[in-house]
Amino acid sequence: MIEFKNVTKAFGNMVAVDSVTFTVDKPQMIGVIGRSGAGKSTFLRLFNRLTPATSGQILVEGTDVLSLKGNAKRRWQKDCAMIFQQFNLVPRLDVVTNVMLGRLNQHGTLRSMFKIFSQRDIDDALAALDRLGLAERALQRVETLSGGQQQRVAIARGLMQEPKIILADEPIASLDPLSAEVVMGSLREIHDRDGITVMCNLHTLDTARAYCDRVIGMAQGKVVFDGPADALTPEAAREIYGAEEGLNESVTSTSISSGAPVRARSNPSAAGQGAQVAEANAATA
Ligand SMILES: Nc1ncnc2c1ncn2[C@@H]1O[C@H](COP(=O)(O)OP(=O)(O)OP(=O)(O)O)[C@@H](O)[C@H]1O
Ligand SMILES: [Mg+2]
Repeated sequence: MIEFKNVTKAFGNMVAVDSVTFTVDKPQMIGVIGRSGAGKSTFLRLFNRLTPATSGQILVEGTDVLSLKGNAKRRWQKDCAMIFQQFNLVPRLDVVTNVMLGRLNQHGTLRSMFKIFSQRDIDDALAALDRLGLAERALQRVETLSGGQQQRVAIARGLMQEPKIILADEPIASLDPLSAEVVMGSLREIHDRDGITVMCNLHTLDTARAYCDRVIGMAQGKVVFDGPADALTPEAAREIYGAEEGLNESVTSTSISSGAPVRARSNPSAAGQGAQVAEANAATA
């Protein structure tokens, strides 16, 4: 159970996130949409404590994570894995080491400084890579992978945190459509199989419709839409993006929707996902 209560962030006079209030009462795959500057990234960064909030509370199982300090704050950041548009990997390190870096915040300073990993860390990292369809890339330097593969390495690193929630800030914005589908399918599979909430900033309506259960629309820092993905009609989208855009869906669309969009959850079989990952690996190798 997650409760956002009047969460607000101001940068000087500019209110980037304005009294955001909503509840997540069961694990969900949530898409956050809105035009550039609506406050989507700031909102995720507040949740993860990368940016301090100005006021409000975020209660996770009854604890206000916005007021945690020191070790408790670090524990929350471990519980709340963050995936970024630009992956934030270490390009010259190999894939498996990058994944194991997801464990660092669970180890003491000395072990972290010297990057000393246990056999369990190594086994878990290989299992996470296998799950993301990247086992055979383990020893390759990250900089030699495609964007889609790098984003899946970043997701594997997030899984190493054993998170309770995954936050993703435009995880597919730098990817080609096929890689974007594989990355969104991976996040959906993690939600379905691990039963954790995934909250994902997206700039394409069709991606939100195809992969998310619930969509939150933001405009000027406020929540202006909150409903099931099916309720995201063109009228609702116009509200979120502003009528003056003349809402050209192609602006908020990738070619993911140019075929028949398949709701990921209607095809959640691990085998299907594996085949899709293998196909994309072949295509992007
Ligand atoms: N560190 C900062 N200092 C001052 N203003 C900021 C800062 N970070 C964000 N803002 C402002 O807050 C508002 C919301 O920004 P934010 O990055 O959250 O939007 P966004 O919805 O993620 O946009 P985009 O789709 O372009 O990523 C913007 O007006 C932005 O200029
Ligand atoms: Mg952003």
